[in-house]
Amino acid sequence: MKDASTNSNAKRMAGEAAAELVKSGMVVGLGTGSTVAWTIQRLGARVREEGLELLGVPTSFQSEHLAIASGIKLTSLNQHPILDLAIDGADQVDADLFVIKGGGAAHTREKVVSCSAKRFVIVADESKFVQRLSRPVPVEVLAFATRLVERRLQSLGGSPVLRQAMRKDGPVITDNGNLVMDVDFGSIQDPRALAAKISPIPGVVEHGIFDNVDELYLARADGVEKIRRSR
Ligand code: 5RP
Repeated sequence: MKDASTNSNAKRMAGEAAAELVKSGMVVGLGTGSTVAWTIQRLGARVREEGLELLGVPTSFQSEHLAIASGIKLTSLNQHPILDLAIDGADQVDADLFVIKGGGAAHTREKVVSCSAKRFVIVADESKFVQRLSRPVPVEVLAFATRLVERRLQSLGGSPVLRQAMRKDGPVITDNGNLVMDVDFGSIQDPRALAAKISPIPGVVEHGIFDNVDELYLARADGVEKIRRSR
């Protein structure tokens, strides 16, 4: 699933630009993936070079380990239930700032963390920006409920495929111990309406449609464009 972009320069531009939003004293949600990894590393550099003081709340084992290696102090949502800011990557984003996330199977924690933040910023390169969302929607599922969830998603018009691990036999197991289905709905006309139909299916832990993005840092050839939510 991690094939949306190989544009690492653009990812770096967007990721590092968003790191400048962080001010001393902030508690910041740290997303998952190769774009926000640049944000985390830049924040680590700011801690070392400027004495920036921040506390991070990671969204995955990946972001936790990278933050620790970068010298960022960590906290938890139990200790800091309201975050000043959350920064994360995306697999696709449209002009209304609806987003599909979960290419790294971290969307459940990413949603909890971003919904705990006063401001949610997405960092992405131009290849992620589309007129209409169309990537398969990642859905985290209790293993026990797989067959029921599969049938319900099919009845919504989706084609679910259980995500397989790359360097392990069998399915991907999330940081929460669950499975992930990638559900192809074709071109998604109304992301919010689709999200509202997926959420109540028994056994669905969380889906990868996000409607809570405040701002997009989009790396284009000539610089990073900042697009605010208008809806
Ligand atoms: C992880 C995610 C990532 O943020 C998304 O897959 C983007 O990753 P990358 O920046 O590596 O392209 O949602 O679950």
